[in-house]
Amino acid sequence: MSLSRTDPKPMKTSFAHNAEPSPAAPSPPQIPVLSAVGLAKSFRTPRGMLPVIADVTLSVGAGEFASIRGGSGAGKTTLLQILGGLDRPDAGELYWGGELVSGRGNAFLAVRRATRIGFVFQAYHLVPELSALENILLAARIAGRDTGSAKAEALGLLDRVGLAERATHLPGQLSGGECQRVALVRALINRPPLILADEPTGNLDERTGEEIMSLLLDLTRTASVALVLVTHNADFASRAGRRFILRGGVLTLADAGKG
Ligand SMILES: Nc1ncnc2c1ncn2[C@@H]1O[C@H](COP(=O)(O)OP(=O)(O)OP(=O)(O)O)[C@@H](O)[C@H]1O
Ligand SMILES: [Mg+2]
Repeated sequence: MSLSRTDPKPMKTSFAHNAEPSPAAPSPPQIPVLSAVGLAKSFRTPRGMLPVIADVTLSVGAGEFASIRGGSGAGKTTLLQILGGLDRPDAGELYWGGELVSGRGNAFLAVRRATRIGFVFQAYHLVPELSALENILLAARIAGRDTGSAKAEALGLLDRVGLAERATHLPGQLSGGECQRVALVRALINRPPLILADEPTGNLDERTGEEIMSLLLDLTRTASVALVLVTHNADFASRAGRRFILRGGVLTLADAGKG
């Protein structure tokens, strides 16, 4: 089966995974899959307001792979939730595929999110009462798709991640690595142009984490899906085309000046 998007835009190779933008190869301007301008977020706590995101401006191009590291409590999850429309910024604008989505209602966000963004979480977040296949088809249904056609695609993807024989198993009958494989398929089933992954290997041992990361990179690269990866793992982060650090509520390039 093919994971290619049905509406492929001309790919700019400078946005491909692990490739740095090449100033020598200008190409037509493209609409970023995600664009954030001046995001800010504070939380109300018993001790007063806690500023977490101070001023984040970020643009992610089609097929690009960006990683975000930062200390525990730096605000990485908060930022990813805001980028995915699961939480709201206090200030700033958020665009998905050039469309302004910040300030829009929850119903609008849910509809857009279903087709524009796939999420992968550290703790998998599968529905425990649903089988692997049903968890994936639920995401397809939320996107308004006919589950009949989505089913063939889901089974093909399950096969691709090595779980062809596990489609009817419940999450409780699967290992952590297998649950995360199901979650990868769920994130990709609606062919979103962007995956937001928050510590996708954080609950897994080293070898399984490496397997999941390889699958995530392979699947997103094959389908030209952009990936924003939050990770504490320096090796995984280093594989990204752009590597950010979140510190003091601000994103900075981790190794500006290095190849
Ligand atoms: N809903 C909330 N209400 C109050 N404070 C919150 C809320 N959500 C997050 N915080 C606080 O915001 C800060 C950033 O949290 P966040 O989970 O984004 O950090 P993180 O960088 O993802 O950390 P980790 O690496 O441990 O996952 C923390 O101090 C956290 O306690
Ligand atoms: Mg976190």
